[in-house]
Amino acid sequence: MISIPQNIQELVSYKPGKPVPQIIEELGLKEWAILWNNENNLGPSPKALQRITEALATSHLYPDPVSTKLREMIAERNHCKLENVVVGNGSESILDNLFGAFFEGEDELLTCEGTFVAVYIWAKSNNVPVTKVPLNSGYGFDVQRIVEALTPNTKAIYIANPNNPTGTMITRDELDYLIAQVPDDVLIIVDEAYFEYALALSPDYPDSSRLNLPNVLTLRTFSKAYGIAAIRVGYAIGHPEVIEALNKVRMTFAPSNVAQAAGIGALEDDEHLQKTIDLNTKALSEFYQAFHDKELKYIPSFGNFVMLDLETAENAKQFTTDMLHKGIFIRHLPAFGLPHCVRISTGTEGENALLTSKLRA
Ligand SMILES: Cc1ncc(COP(=O)(O)O)c(C=O)c1O
Repeated sequence: MISIPQNIQELVSYKPGKPVPQIIEELGLKEWAILWNNENNLGPSPKALQRITEALATSHLYPDPVSTKLREMIAERNHCKLENVVVGNGSESILDNLFGAFFEGEDELLTCEGTFVAVYIWAKSNNVPVTKVPLNSGYGFDVQRIVEALTPNTKAIYIANPNNPTGTMITRDELDYLIAQVPDDVLIIVDEAYFEYALALSPDYPDSSRLNLPNVLTLRTFSKAYGIAAIRVGYAIGHPEVIEALNKVRMTFAPSNVAQAAGIGALEDDEHLQKTIDLNTKALSEFYQAFHDKELKYIPSFGNFVMLDLETAENAKQFTTDMLHKGIFIRHLPAFGLPHCVRISTGTEGENALLTSKLRA
């Protein structure tokens, strides 16, 4: 038998639940709202779809290995240069590349409990130890505790801003404080998967890509506000040397021609993006009102989802099941270390109305 390293043995492979159509059929649902994956239920921009269709005709050719046009557009929109940008098969693949490019020997990652689970998984699969400090009492990243937990082995810090699944954000002042306290040979990874939503929701939201610091790396994705999660395209903005190290370990022909084209089309459609952002801002306030009316404890969010604190794991599990039987697909959060909580994404107008009416029923 081939021996499997201990760290890989300890990982659990992803086991998807039942497909949505099967659940709908089994429960005999007449109406439903899919609010469990923080996707953009408005769908992709028509311009992205058009670009995808055009790209299919060149599918016999390897794609541009350095995604020139897409990176140019990203660089222009983010006021940086081409050499500051790398793209990948979703930001998750760049996260994986980070471990391959920067960690060696005793190096560790420092982050919080209750953040994006993929970080822990990719760290473990790359055999990188993770130090996790607790979230603060408001379910936010505890910047002070992170600073206190730094050791000579800390190679990088991971912050999701806003955080998934809690929806909390760190402010400009908190990020500045963190950067000031952290030695400049520690990489600060700021995952801004929900950047476009957060920017519209708070004037205090810091765009880390604008800092232009050699040890700050910004991760972004096209999977959320841009609505092309299935296509798999994300990017990082950082110092050219950091970006070049990522270039050395990434897959040569990633992302695909279709993904590059979809990203280009998505960036060309400001109208679709704005519609998405406005819908989310409206949905959040409708959700908050419904949660308030039902005396449910919610955590104010800066993403396209809200977390509810239901006090016990039993409550949270029951709530998730009850909502599912009413056609509302939401996420119970034991895998995030928050078994007493659930996360509800915003959806289309119709889905949001269904959620609030089922809650009030
Ligand atoms: C904080 C955070 N980062 C990254 C991702 C993954 O993005 P991608 O689809 O680009 O891999 C997610 C998806 O849920 C997320 O919540």
